[in-house]
Amino acid sequence: TARRKLIAGNWKMNGLKADGLALASDLAGRLNGAGEVSFDLLVCPPFPLLFPVGDAIAGSALALGGQDCAAKNSGAHTGDVAPTMLVDAGCRYVILGHSERRADHGESDALIAAKAAAAHAQGLIAIVCVGETEAQRDAGQADAVVSGQLAGSIPAGATAANTVIAYEPVWAIGTGKTATPDDVAAMHAHIRAELDGKIADPAKAKILYGGSVKPGNAVELMAVENVDGALVGGAALKADDFWAIATSC
Ligand code: G3H
Repeated sequence: TARRKLIAGNWKMNGLKADGLALASDLAGRLNGAGEVSFDLLVCPPFPLLFPVGDAIAGSALALGGQDCAAKNSGAHTGDVAPTMLVDAGCRYVILGHSERRADHGESDALIAAKAAAAHAQGLIAIVCVGETEAQRDAGQADAVVSGQLAGSIPAGATAANTVIAYEPVWAIGTGKTATPDDVAAMHAHIRAELDGKIADPAKAKILYGGSVKPGNAVELMAVENVDGALVGGAALKADDFWAIATSC
């Protein structure tokens, strides 16, 4: 099954308006000038930048996503951002259950599933993140941890069209350490098998790798079987690096 690669930039809590506009406009320009490419390119700025960045890249092939959303569309939920608001800003995607949300905000699998269902209801593609900690991997629990996260975080109604899985070993995020291609291949095959019965058309579902993806390791990682793209943090903040990763597909 040929799956088109998705290269997603998670800006996390970085950049002010001028930085975000410059980065997104630069990427949109490169994409528009590149003609036919073999990947989809996505940027996920912090919430305050969604509208200006969305307006700046409107009409380009560069896609926009949020880094989180609420499980509801309105109401008394101070500080939360609704899926409808992401759509209003021009988003097609939303990252859910990132390990930083799981750790910093105590997000449970059940909450992530509820958020994903709410995102799906608005036509958003949910990028559901899973991944083990270093202690869990050392204890031989990586597969079981990821299986549990998949079972709990993927909502009913998930399909290969509305759900992307991102595998991010927590110990590889922002550390410069990456999983070996063999470990990535083994985990992505495990995830693919686990999607059976959880996502309609599992063979078509994209599984991204995330964790210190850089221009220097992207060719090797993107060539691994069942790796259908990347979720990039640090290297997504520089147009040259992010573009180099995308064009290594
Ligand atoms: O969402 C992105 C990841 O957490 C990876 O971050 O590329 O800075 O390691 P990183």
